[in-house]
Amino acid sequence: MTMTPSFQPAGAPPGGTSPRHFLDLDQVETGTLTGILDLSRRLKAAGNANALGQARPLEGRVLALIFEKNSTRTRVSFEVAMRQLGGDVLMLDASQSQIDRGETLADTARVLSRYVDAIMFRTKEPERLAELAAHATVPVINGLTNVAHPCQLMADVLTLQERKGSDLSRRVVTWSGDGNNVATSWVKAAARFGFELRLACPEELRVDPEVIGWARTSGARVVEGVDPEMLVDGADCVVTDAWVSMGDEEQEVANRHNLLRRYQVNEALMARAAPDAVFMHCLPAHRGEEVTDAVIDGSQSAVWDEAENRLHAQKGILAWCLGA
Ligand code: CP
Ligand code: NVA
Repeated sequence: MTMTPSFQPAGAPPGGTSPRHFLDLDQVETGTLTGILDLSRRLKAAGNANALGQARPLEGRVLALIFEKNSTRTRVSFEVAMRQLGGDVLMLDASQSQIDRGETLADTARVLSRYVDAIMFRTKEPERLAELAAHATVPVINGLTNVAHPCQLMADVLTLQERKGSDLSRRVVTWSGDGNNVATSWVKAAARFGFELRLACPEELRVDPEVIGWARTSGARVVEGVDPEMLVDGADCVVTDAWVSMGDEEQEVANRHNLLRRYQVNEALMARAAPDAVFMHCLPAHRGEEVTDAVIDGSQSAVWDEAENRLHAQKGILAWCLGA
């Protein structure tokens, strides 16, 4: 991508007639994702918005944040990103808005589009995100659903590239744990960024085979199995996430723990990865469950850089969505 003051990557709609939604990694072209990460890197290196050629590129723009699930990192990093780019944010607590009283997401989208310049939505079912996006005339950003967390993966890929170089084609990432929303987004990221992804998940908690099928059709190298020791062997990155995601509490938690115990990332498992392997986790972590203190606090852990990179990656996403 050429360095221009204005972020207009290949694949952008001419004239900006339709909103640039950021809904999932399989819905944005690889070249655009790469361009967003290049911009994120430049913004991070510059330490301010000057990488976009102006100090306050999003001056006068407002981002609405709607959360139907809890958040620390996503909320704070979007708020800070927007403010550091000169824009503003407003938080809409879904439980205190008319959404919770049954106003449709379609109508909510129509109304919010008259007030704000972009909407970030964290929700449960992907259909809710799709409904909001279908009726919004401003960009909609996926802040996590039950099946995807694309903003997280942009930060994760940025972190992996910082540690292992921008060409990930010879890198191996092993996921050990629940085949959840974040794991699903890692599968899509493998298709977009070219690394080999090995999924070590219990048979009962595998990633949706349709997503794996899509990724393989797109050229991704995805290996599946139930044996974490075997799949971690020689990996450049070991990644995991909570055994009980938001919303899973309604299911049998004890059963999940039983199924996932052998997938814990501990020193013994890390010792099977490459000597310079990094450990990653989107956070929040449940210490002593999916990861031990020794690993998350150890020298191979990249989790705090990963959390910081939410801020930088989302600046890139916001700049692209808003054509800054
Ligand atoms: N990783 C992540 O999305 O964290 P939050 O739930 O705190 O936003
Ligand atoms: N899989 C976790 C990710 C939290 C950021 C969840 O959905 O709760």
